[in-house]
Amino acid sequence: MAASSFDTSLTFAAEMDARDPLARFRDEFHIPPTPDGSASVYLCGHSLGLQPKRAREYVEIELEDWAKLAVEAHFRGRNPWMPYHRSLTASMGGIVGAEPAEVVVMNSLTANLHLMMVSFYRPTAERHKIVIEAGAFPSDRYAVASQIRFHGFDPATSLVELKPRPSEATMRQEEIQGLLEREGKSIALVMLGGVNYATGQLFDMPAITRAGHAQGCVVAFDLAHAAGNVPVRLHDWGVDFAVWCTYKYLNGGPGCVGGCFVHEKHGRAFDLPRFAGWWGHDQDTRFLMGPEFHPMPGAEGWQLSNPPILALAALRASLEIFAAAGIEQLRKKSISLTGYLEYLLDQTKSDRFSVITPRDPEQRGAQLSIRIRQNGRAVLDRLLAEEIYCDCREPDILRAAPMPLYNTYSDVHRFAERFIALLA
Ligand SMILES: Cc1ncc(COP(=O)(O)O)c(C=O)c1O
Repeated sequence: MAASSFDTSLTFAAEMDARDPLARFRDEFHIPPTPDGSASVYLCGHSLGLQPKRAREYVEIELEDWAKLAVEAHFRGRNPWMPYHRSLTASMGGIVGAEPAEVVVMNSLTANLHLMMVSFYRPTAERHKIVIEAGAFPSDRYAVASQIRFHGFDPATSLVELKPRPSEATMRQEEIQGLLEREGKSIALVMLGGVNYATGQLFDMPAITRAGHAQGCVVAFDLAHAAGNVPVRLHDWGVDFAVWCTYKYLNGGPGCVGGCFVHEKHGRAFDLPRFAGWWGHDQDTRFLMGPEFHPMPGAEGWQLSNPPILALAALRASLEIFAAAGIEQLRKKSISLTGYLEYLLDQTKSDRFSVITPRDPEQRGAQLSIRIRQNGRAVLDRLLAEEIYCDCREPDILRAAPMPLYNTYSDVHRFAERFIALLA
């Protein structure tokens, strides 16, 4: 919906909510209550997604089967635990645009990033650099720098950080292309966040993948802020690998299991070095307990351990809701909701804050990052005291992300109204 069709009245927000084809999904989630029992305004799904109501039921099924069947639940449970992780493959594949053999839920994001780099970061004297975005999530920076050191290289020369122009907050695609063209032959791995956690910028993943491959680089993405937020087509884009977490946009619950994608072109590359564990071993012979590791084809061949069923049960509840709503429909509403938030913020000509997330909806997901010139923390504290959830990232960025699955236009209206009033 174009900004020209929005207006500032609460009636408009209520009308938009009444016409929202996805409105019924809000009732699938527990919205944190205020002290008077009404629903709070939760714009923090970029940090921790809300609990799907059916998560409790799904976890309880597994707790009951554990109580009644114990070890036999691996085979005789209502959802046998042996193949449980596979029950998430189709829905997770739909979210990131992966073939079933290319996707697996396992471990956590940073652990998966390391496992992937063991296989796909193979530096040589000529080609040893890793490109990340300046302001990448610290865990990514720590992980890539430690891998560089592990191979005997120095992050000072092997870690390249893409920086925006001095007066700009976000990256231009032409700068990314330019760097790849200039330095491509020395770059082993391009590893960017699909959506940057701080600025909310959505990178042009297909164009970056093409540009990186043209230079012979491996191209990978951290989709922590992209999976479940924006449509992603990892297989079609030819991305080499990707990792993500499931506790943000995917509502899997705190510390829930991570996701991992390995493109099918690498699925049978059994000669790649990899850190092995028994759950990645060929499932037909896994329980023969032999001494030699024979990996399964596809992403499952990178698994280490048997997965945490209770966490998977909660994630399964959320992925079912995603499948019912449809990622394209969600994106449509998301563009409208975030555009509405931007529109409301734009109505005040305050110089106390500015939106640093790209203005172009194609270059962002749900999140707007708002730079507050002074006292950002105090504004956040006041909002939280009024049961309006968003968060701050140092030094001066307030992040707010309306989720199309459970947020309303009225939520966005209330946030914008209170935010502007508190700054005034
Ligand atoms: C972009 C990004 N990368 C990596 C991580 C680290 O995730 P984990 O703690 O699951 O390894 C986070 C966590 O918020 C993140 O936002």
